[in-house]
Order: sequence, then structure tokens, then C-alpha cells
Amino acid sequence: MSREKVLVTAALPYANGPIHLGHLSGAYLPADIYVRYKRLNGDDIVFIGGSDEHGVPITISADKEGVKPKEIIDRYHNLNKEAFEKFGMSFDNYSRTSLPIHHATGQEFFLEFYKRNVLVEKKSLQFYDEKAKMFLPDRYVEGTCPNCGYEEARSDECENCGALYQPTELKNPKSKITGENPVLKETSHWYFPLGRYQKRLEEYINEMNRQYGWKENVLNYCRGWFKDGLGDRAITRDLDWGIKVPLDSNEGKVLYVWFEAVLGYISSTKEWAINKGDENLWRKYWQDTNTKYVPFIGKDNIVFHSIIFPAFLMAWNDGEREKYVLPQNIPANEFLNFEGKKFSKSRNWGIDVIDFLKLFPADPLRYTLAANLPETRDTDFYWKEFQLRNNSELADILGNFINRTLTFVNKHFSGEVPSKGKLDDIDTEMINLIAEYPAKVSKLFESYKIRDGVLEAMNLARAGNKYFNDSEPWKSVKQDKEKCASTLNICLQAIYTLAELLSPVIPFSSDKIFSMLNAEITEWHKCGGENLVPGHKLGKVEIIFPKIEDEVIEKQMQQLNKTAIKEEPKQDEQITFDDFMKVQLKVAEVLSAEKLEKSEKLLKLKVRIGNEERQIIAGIAKSYKPEDLLNKKVVVVANLKPAKLMGMESQGMILAAEDEKGGLKILSADDLVKSGARVK
Ligand code: 2FM
Ligand code: ZN
Repeated sequence: MSREKVLVTAALPYANGPIHLGHLSGAYLPADIYVRYKRLNGDDIVFIGGSDEHGVPITISADKEGVKPKEIIDRYHNLNKEAFEKFGMSFDNYSRTSLPIHHATGQEFFLEFYKRNVLVEKKSLQFYDEKAKMFLPDRYVEGTCPNCGYEEARSDECENCGALYQPTELKNPKSKITGENPVLKETSHWYFPLGRYQKRLEEYINEMNRQYGWKENVLNYCRGWFKDGLGDRAITRDLDWGIKVPLDSNEGKVLYVWFEAVLGYISSTKEWAINKGDENLWRKYWQDTNTKYVPFIGKDNIVFHSIIFPAFLMAWNDGEREKYVLPQNIPANEFLNFEGKKFSKSRNWGIDVIDFLKLFPADPLRYTLAANLPETRDTDFYWKEFQLRNNSELADILGNFINRTLTFVNKHFSGEVPSKGKLDDIDTEMINLIAEYPAKVSKLFESYKIRDGVLEAMNLARAGNKYFNDSEPWKSVKQDKEKCASTLNICLQAIYTLAELLSPVIPFSSDKIFSMLNAEITEWHKCGGENLVPGHKLGKVEIIFPKIEDEVIEKQMQQLNKTAIKEEPKQDEQITFDDFMKVQLKVAEVLSAEKLEKSEKLLKLKVRIGNEERQIIAGIAKSYKPEDLLNKKVVVVANLKPAKLMGMESQGMILAAEDEKGGLKILSADDLVKSGARVK
């Protein structure tokens, strides 16, 4: 068996809040299971993680609390590191992007690109707070909406009426830092010309997919980006907090957080190498074409890992210096929801990892999440399912098989592994089945079907129970002790195999099972054989998976519902039927659609409502291409007062709903409904 050299990274979580169960399902648990399996498989693997400690959300949290960003990142880095440890994440290194080693890496990449003229400098107008002496990121400015007059509108978008505009159109802009009116000031930034790499990126992704079979969700995201065409991306910001742009002329500028966060994987590996006593060891993984590099991420991070990071690495590799490997596969997961809804901090919906682990041990959580990973679609965590997976699978299937076997061996074979004697068909079948399992589960893990691998491993425990029942050792112990000995020997070998196959999933319990067997774990491919020799003395039996009582789960559910902040409208916000009827919702047909050059968000549409033609400026360009909309029937607010958006009149509004990524989905009207029909 040839050993693979594997570099695994898991997305660096923002040190801006505690990680919750959704984060675990998206990236961390599948990465950890994969890595633990690969280690047992004898592969040469390094597993890298860390905290992402820059970016505007961190400075906003700091401002809100009146503390320095350093205090926020220290708090959440330590908290998340502890949560990961308790959860059993087996990172080889867990670093932080605020460390000097990472700042140096970010600056090294920037300078390399700068010197080789990869980057493009562009000027733009941006709000500047003269009192605070700083440029203001979008989230730091608010003002009066030029469309509806809402006074807390954001710099380029109104939450109240949905209008999108240029920051220059915002009325009475105010800095959120000083409350002063900011001025518009010219600034210049460095852009990475992603478009220049599009062709090579497409070829790279096609080739990786051809060789290694990428996931459909990942390919779809990429195709969407390629279809829109890649453009220049600013990689610097006018901010204080972050990695300084290493040019004298660029004082007050830092690298954009996403430019450097992905490089955090490299600097964390460098830190690992130094701690190992060989500062060049990181190169053995990052700069060797034999390395298989696999970043584990959630779906919101796909573009950064499949397009932007590979483009940075390609740009680096075009130079003279040692070259980096690109991801071989990106097994990105969809999202985990909580009891049917999205995790939400502001609505108090969900549970943080650190809090969960104060209530329950890690393994039942790991198993429940693993059995339900959002590998192909969004899935949910339900408290009831957690209880069921623990009680009916871990306790009743796995725990019971172990317990009944060991208790029996203690009672009838003085706690020693009995020898196999004559074998019946069912014994041979069971021996063969056990032997097949390591390769079966391995195949699934190797193709990132972690969930299927876990469920398959549990099937061996089911088979074990069935074999125990069918063999009826409680009868054979009286009638045919040799047969009974064979049965128990085989059951013990199956327990050994299970302890190993499930060790990547439930590592803490697996350790306990091995100590109950008084045995050490072996290489993966050997675990389906005869690992416990006759006469071997077993260890002490204990209950590994205590049941979770109904009251305990009900308490959690009540707690959740008690503290959740409901989104229902307040009593005084309800409207009457007459109010509703004032809004004329009508079916309209899209006659033409075009992109507006100066705006990323707006499309100019011509629609027909009955016999009337209208122009509508709609903020849907990020979710729809003009050609997607042609001849579509949509629902519009037909009696909305016309408004000017970027100097053009919009005579109505299209109804759309926001999806979980913040994209928009238009409400489409059934084909049978005539344009002009009223929607009530
Ligand atoms: O989405 C996030 O939480 C980001 N902090 C992930 C960064 S992954 C990598 F680039 F570091
Ligand atoms: Zn508005």
C-alpha cells in the first residue's frame, strides 16, 4: 500500500464569536474524521487550523464593547480553541492570523505580486471621517435613503425599501464612529486581476474534477462564477486593523482579510514546522507536487478556496520561486440548520459548541452530526434525533453488542479471549464480513463520503448483534462449549474492528473500548483480521454510552424556545385587509433586461403589465443574469410611487425572497396566469 502525503486544512473561523454546531458539520468534523482515518491508514498527513483574526466584523465588535480588537480575538481564539479540543479535533497546529509569522507571509505574497506587476492600482471615492482621520468601510456609514427617506440606511443600500444606490447619493451620511458627516475622498487600492486567470482556473478545475471527481455543489458554484466572468478584486483596505500593506506609500492600508486569511493555512503550517524543530518542514507539504492538498470548508467559503486562493497560488507559481500545490479536491459541505431554522445569534437560535459540551460528552454529538452531515444538501440538528442516535444506535446497537459480549466472556470464559474451534457457515460468513469492512469504509472515506462511511461502520455493529442472536451462545454454552467459544471469539474480533472503524468518529469511546479489550489500536487495513489472540486477558467492562432521558432533552427544547427571539410582527405593526389591498400586486412579463454598467447590483428591465409597459430598476443583478429573466412572469408592486435609482426612473418593484446566502429568488408567476392579473 503506498503512503500518500496529505495536507488537510479546515477553514479558519473568525475569532469574533463562539463556534456553533453548524460550523462543526460544515467543515471541522468531516475534516477530523478524514484525518484520523488517514493517520490510521498509515498516510503521511498534517492537519492545519487556526483563527481568522482580521476584518471589519472584529473591529465593529470591539467598538461596540469599547475594547481593542485584540481583546475580542484573544477571547474568542481561546474559547474556540478550547471548544475544538473538547470536541476532539486533532489539529496538528491551531494558529492565529494575528501572529508575526502570518503577517510576514501575507506581506511576502503581496510584495511578490507587487514586484512582478501582477497587481493593478485603481482610484475610487470613499467616505472619510475627518475627525477619526480614517476611511470608513461601508458598514461604518449610515444616512438617509435617497429613495424612501429612511434615516438609518446603509451607505449603498436601504434596508427599509431595498433601494440600491451609489454612496454619493446617500443623503446626510454619518460616520458611525464619530457621528460626523464624512467627506468623499479619493483613495487608491490594489486589485488582483482575477480575470486574467479565468481560463487556467477553468482548466484546473476541469482537470481535478476529471481525475478526482469534485462535488457537484462545488462545481456549480464555480460554473456560476465563470459564467459571470471574473473581474478585478480589491486586496487592500483603508483600515487600521489587519496586516499592513508593506509599501511606504500605502500607510494606513491593510491587506483585505480574505487575501491573507487563506494564506493563514501556510503560516500555520510554518508555525507547526518550527515547533517540530525543522523550520523548513512545511515546504515538504506545500511545495511538493506529490502532496495531496484538501481544504475542508462550508459552502459559503467555496469561491475563496476553489477560485481566489488557487488564482493567488497560480500567480505565485508563475514567478521564479518555489511553487505551491493547489487543492486536489474541495469537499465543501452545505449547511446544518438547527431545529428547522438557520442558526442565528441575534435570534438566539442554536447552541454553541462550548455550551453543548458542558451538557453532553463529545462522542454522541460527533456521531449524531456525522450521521447527518450536510454533504449533498442542508440538514438539521434536532434535539430528539440527538437523543435517538445516542439511545437507539450508540447505546442499543453498539454499546449493547460490546456489553453483552464482554459480560458473557467474563462469566463463562473468565474474561479471556476463547479459542475458535470448529466453524459453521454463519461463523465463516461473519469472519468474512468483518474482514471486508476496513476496505469498505475506507473507500467511502477516501471519496469524502464521510456520512456513508460512518453509517456503514455502524452496520457492522448491527451485524454483530444479529450474529450473536443467531448463534445463541446462551444455549451453546451448555450444549457445545467449543461452538460457544468460536462465537465469542468472533464477536470479540468484531468489537475490535468496530472500535477501530469508529475511532475517527467517536475517538473518546473508541479509546474506552480498546481499554476494555485491553488492546492497542492497529493499522487500519489490519483491523478486520484476528487481532485478539486466544487466552488474551480482557480489561474491565464499563457502560460507554449512558442513555439520555426524555426530561433532559425536553429541558433543552424548552430552554431554546424560552430564550429564542421570535420574528413575528409586533401587535402595532399588523395591517388590516384594506391596508393590504392598497398594494397592487400584479403579474408582469419581462420583455427585456440589461445590466447597468456602473452597478454590480442593478438590472434595467422592461416589463409588460397587461397592456402597459414599464421600466423597473431591480437590485437582482447578483442573483440573475439578464437572459435568465427574458419572458419570465414575475410579480410586481404596480402602484409603487416611481423612484429614481442611479438617475433612472423605476416604475414598480419586483417581488423576490432572500435565500440563506443573501441571494435573491424572484417569485415567479405560474405560466397560466396572464400578465396584468392581480395577485391577492
Ligand atoms: O467564513 C469564515 O469563517 C472565514 N473566517 C473562513 C476563512 S477560511 C480561510 F481562508 F482562512
Ligand atoms: Zn429606502
